[in-house]
Amino acid sequence: MSSGPYLHGHHASVLRSHAWRTVENSCPHLIPYLDNPSLKILDVGCGPGTITVDLASRIPQGLVVAIDPSADVIEKARKHAAEKGVTNVRFEVGDIFHWNALEGVGEGGFDVVHAHQVLQHLQDPLGALREMKKLTKVGGIVAIRDVDYSAMNWYPEHDGMRKWLHLYMAVAKGIKCDPNIGKRLHAIAMEAGFPRSDIEASVAAWTFSTPEEREWWCSLWAERTVQSEFKHKAIESGLATEKDLQEIAQTWREMERKEDGWFAVINGQVICHVK
Ligand SMILES: C[S@@+](CC[C@H](N)C(=O)[O-])C[C@H]1O[C@@H](n2cnc3c(N)ncnc32)[C@H](O)[C@@H]1O
Repeated sequence: MSSGPYLHGHHASVLRSHAWRTVENSCPHLIPYLDNPSLKILDVGCGPGTITVDLASRIPQGLVVAIDPSADVIEKARKHAAEKGVTNVRFEVGDIFHWNALEGVGEGGFDVVHAHQVLQHLQDPLGALREMKKLTKVGGIVAIRDVDYSAMNWYPEHDGMRKWLHLYMAVAKGIKCDPNIGKRLHAIAMEAGFPRSDIEASVAAWTFSTPEEREWWCSLWAERTVQSEFKHKAIESGLATEKDLQEIAQTWREMERKEDGWFAVINGQVICHVK
């Protein structure tokens, strides 16, 4: 099964959002499992690698291997690790469906196999989770976190925001991906063979409300709407015109200026114990 096209692509507005991410703001579910400094971790779909490098700096005697199918983004991730002086990390161009694990840390070899905001972009998330399970040691964990777009919320109300959400979900579903996967990660894990009693399921939110947070969140969505791969997919699929997208970008700019603006992004997260 192929991974399918990555909906956002790697435009600067997309990478700006990924590069903000840290273990603390994006993987709180993983923190209790990082207390062994010699862990071997696999980061699947690492993007520009800020979470990856943060993980590596928390396990100085361990190793983080990180894969992403985009050679460009892997280059950026390597550069980020070098800038941070973090050396116990290896970035590889790789796809979870066709990856030959590195010698020594191959099948059944990782303590933690982690994917952040990746399964929502795959046409076969169950197949990916099965691959991740195979790569995890007995006694280790598979950790997944993804957003649920249907649970996105904001204040104040704005019709344009409803239009954006409706369009985003339609474009994602049009390329056979599930933008609301965050609410059923535990169900996919059960389908992949994890007993319910071996799965911890939780929720954590990102909130954007201060002027700085609103500026960051709204301006990156305004840019993504009219400049990233999303724009092309929305137009190619016939779900939006250039004018619709310009209006949605304008909505984001208006939301950015609302002093009482507030945005909540709900993320589902699971820890699956491999026994
Ligand atoms: C939303 S980004 C998340 C990046 C990073 N995990 C983060 O949270 O900052 C999703 C990433 O998954 C990658 N991806 C897409 N298909 C993949 C596959 N089959 N195997 C591994 N990674 C994949 C994309 O290239 C993209 O960089």
